[in-house]
Amino acid sequence: MKSLIQALTQIPGPSGYENEIRVAVRAEIETYADEIRVDALGNLIARKASSAATPSGKRIMLSAHMDEIGVIVTHIDENGFIRFSNLGGVYPRYSPAGRVRFLNGAAGVIDTEKITNLQHVPPINEMFIDVGASSRADCPVQVGDVAVFERAFSEMGERLVSKAMDDRVSVALLITALQRLQNSPHEIYFVFSVQEEVGIRGAATAAFGIEPDLGLAVDVTRTGDTPKSITMEVSLGKGPAIKVKDSGMIADPRVVNWMVERAQADEIPYQLEVLERGSTDARAIQLSRAGVPAGCISIPCRYVHSPSEMIDLGDVENALRLLLGLLQNSIEL
Ligand code: CO
Ligand code: ZN
Repeated sequence: MKSLIQALTQIPGPSGYENEIRVAVRAEIETYADEIRVDALGNLIARKASSAATPSGKRIMLSAHMDEIGVIVTHIDENGFIRFSNLGGVYPRYSPAGRVRFLNGAAGVIDTEKITNLQHVPPINEMFIDVGASSRADCPVQVGDVAVFERAFSEMGERLVSKAMDDRVSVALLITALQRLQNSPHEIYFVFSVQEEVGIRGAATAAFGIEPDLGLAVDVTRTGDTPKSITMEVSLGKGPAIKVKDSGMIADPRVVNWMVERAQADEIPYQLEVLERGSTDARAIQLSRAGVPAGCISIPCRYVHSPSEMIDLGDVENALRLLLGLLQNSIEL
């Protein structure tokens, strides 16, 4: 799992441009799924049929998003400096001195205009990207080109750090779950979704097409365990978090209880999550068609939406155990 996480996090896939990561995920699941399709938005949808002789289970949609935050070129000045806008939740404070990599391979470094107030983080429209050009004519990118943050993968014991942990850690988890799943009474759709970071768009079309009886997203969540951090009951290394609420969804209480009972029965450590800002693919699933019972398994993650997102491998392994336990048993909501 660790090497899969490493490989997947390093692939560029800003929202709307998930082709390269989709190809990589597809190669991992090709021989394990009963059917694979890509919908019009680019969601990769793998179906695993029920193994029961007379299918009595539910149709379940699982979703982990393939896209990552990035930037998009809005303007290039006469000296070849680039102005840019965000693709998803790019924090100004994490951006200066960061490196970006455009999809055509061009590298860039972000800096800010002169800072007059050192207490104040300038907004993104007071920043620029330097790609080494000296004029608009020799700039290797054009308006509309997109880039992702570039940062090497690091291992710190059980803790792994990379850009795009959000949400490639969950992509790796769903791939591994599909590979290891055996004997499930349910028909399961593993969705590797697009455009989550720009407003949870891919999961909406995927859910509409699948019409699931039950939906689960797998995504990262913030933690409250660093010095003077936000007040939040989720810590790194204390197990997967079962989402109760975020700013876009109240998880179905029956789905929360189903997950809590499974975790307790299998003696898997877990945490209950209330996230005050942010949401996941589960929101789109829940609001699909006439409504779908939905919930979310969250991987605790520090420094979310920075180029150095940190997760704990033990949390990922416990999330995998929880997910397989949920999928391999019958479900009474
Ligand atoms: Co995110
Ligand atoms: Zn995410």
